[in-house]
Amino acid sequence: MVISFHLKVLKVARESIENKWYPFIGEKDEIEDNYNKLNINISKNNINYEIIFRVYNDGISFKYNIPSQEALSNYNIIDEYTEFNLSPKDTAWWIPGFSYRRYEFLYAKSSIDDISKEFFSKNVENISYDTIGIDAAHTPLTIKKDNGLIISIHEANLINYSSMTLAPKGNGLLEVELYPWSDGTKVKLDNKITSPWRFIQIADNSSKLLDSDIILNLNEDPDENQDFSWVKPGKYMGVWWEMIGTNESTWWQSQNHGANNSKVKYYLDFASKNNFNGLLVEGWNKGWHPDWCCSGNGDPFSFTESVNDFDINYLSSYGNSIGVNLVGHHETGGQIQNYENQLEDAFKLYNRIGVKNIKTGYVNDVSKNIKKINPEGTVSREWHHGQYMIDHFQKVIETAAKYKLNIIKHEPIKDTGLRRKYPNYISREGAKGQEFNGFWTNGVNHATDLPFTRMLSGPMDYTPGVFQLNNFRYDSPETKNIDKGAIVPSTIGKELALYVVYYSPMQMAADLPKHYSKHMDAFAFIKNVPVDWSERKILNSEFREYVSIARKDKNSENWYVGGITNENERDLKIDFSFLESGKEYTMKMYLDTQNTHWKENPMEYQIIEREVSSNDNIDIYLAPGGGFAIEIIAK
Ligand code: NOJ
Repeated sequence: MVISFHLKVLKVARESIENKWYPFIGEKDEIEDNYNKLNINISKNNINYEIIFRVYNDGISFKYNIPSQEALSNYNIIDEYTEFNLSPKDTAWWIPGFSYRRYEFLYAKSSIDDISKEFFSKNVENISYDTIGIDAAHTPLTIKKDNGLIISIHEANLINYSSMTLAPKGNGLLEVELYPWSDGTKVKLDNKITSPWRFIQIADNSSKLLDSDIILNLNEDPDENQDFSWVKPGKYMGVWWEMIGTNESTWWQSQNHGANNSKVKYYLDFASKNNFNGLLVEGWNKGWHPDWCCSGNGDPFSFTESVNDFDINYLSSYGNSIGVNLVGHHETGGQIQNYENQLEDAFKLYNRIGVKNIKTGYVNDVSKNIKKINPEGTVSREWHHGQYMIDHFQKVIETAAKYKLNIIKHEPIKDTGLRRKYPNYISREGAKGQEFNGFWTNGVNHATDLPFTRMLSGPMDYTPGVFQLNNFRYDSPETKNIDKGAIVPSTIGKELALYVVYYSPMQMAADLPKHYSKHMDAFAFIKNVPVDWSERKILNSEFREYVSIARKDKNSENWYVGGITNENERDLKIDFSFLESGKEYTMKMYLDTQNTHWKENPMEYQIIEREVSSNDNIDIYLAPGGGFAIEIIAK
């Protein structure tokens, strides 16, 4: 059969697959992987290639395979022309590609055709001063179709390729635009192409959109000979918010240096007493100075040498002895070669002293500014999302696995489900997280945008759990005057809810011990909430307005529920029929009060205990910008 000039379909193969697999850690203990598969083998000008389609109940996907063959060798990809033909009436929620701050933007709402830097600059944030290249949106890109369907376009299994953005071409058409290398090439290859999967999640309501496993189904299991049984989910605190949030300490050595021996020991003791198994310490190593951020040109960091008021051997062994391992920290400043040169030694050190998790960071807030010194000595500047960085992130995760280390990546590449094959890819940021509320603001509506956008791709290191929601930030570590304008636009009820609503196998409690000490009754929820689950139920949701989720603990019969709302107060009806019928449970509810308000009165909450069963239906009040959390204990 000839379907276009010189294009021959050689073979068409169809198959129905029914499969089940059991995630090692995750939101469920069992995932169904049922789909219809269509492989089309094509030849053009004697070059053979294959397009593979999979159709799931909740989405469709396809990828390209060009096997290694004689007619083709040593080639690069200079463009990919995949298109998604939507309607100009559809509405998109998007963040801009080809701009300076990676994925850390609030979401814009516009028609597909209006996706542009100009629209973003006018309506969300002025990005006109550092933005180059074409107009395009990052994925996952969420779109509400004019017929009511909600879809999300994204890619899965992004390895040895460049990441895709979606560029509007008019009349509802979106075309794949890959991040180029500095020489204009999109993907450099040896002799074969396996593209990532391009996929569209399709749901007829927002709750179904949140209840999909398609991205993991489009990835592979770990290699058979690779043992990941050492990967353990957990919870951590950090000598961190006092730099980025309260601004009372510095990363660099000063009178107010955060990472000093006595402070770290105090945090270790507090973390141990309260069931945490990790403590992040930032500013422990050489290379920090007041101008460390954000040009990618600063002094290089050392990843093996600690500063003299941080005794890494003493603190790690003390922490290990009380059940709290240090969470390592590698801020690279986007200086990739400096990091890669030290990678093995740095991971060896952490492995030796008992670190299990490393938070990495790639702050370099300039468009197309990842410096690469070429073998001939010339310097090129690469995009954060291009193949150079995809290859780098891959190298880091594989090397980390060798040293039994999990990676929590900040300023990462987006999640494309590789956590299935590499369970040590444990969490990442990849959006505006809580930290922006520390030194800037995310506004009150961002937290309810995230589940329907960024979080469709996977776990997020959002760093919830801030309890001191106003009067927390100093103007400087030296003068320590309270900045009255700084607020975290949330409520304590909502901060607790986020541990259930936002999935992450490593969850942080971001705030300081002294702030938790004022509300130990509410802190009890953070102490108890699990991070590994056997079931997920989306109880109710409306796109960008509210969402509530119930999750069952992987290691008990207990359930946890979290619900959050945007700036609008509301009652949510929680139907407890997800509980086992006939079984008795007690529950502890952490709720906003009628007087709670994200701006006026964010720290008021009430705790109510009562019996509950699968027959119960309860209306719960969520204050403006608020939320609730429930712990349900099986009797
Ligand atoms: C940016 C990260 O997102 C933040 O969490 C970290 O504290 C700073 N980089 C310093 O590494």
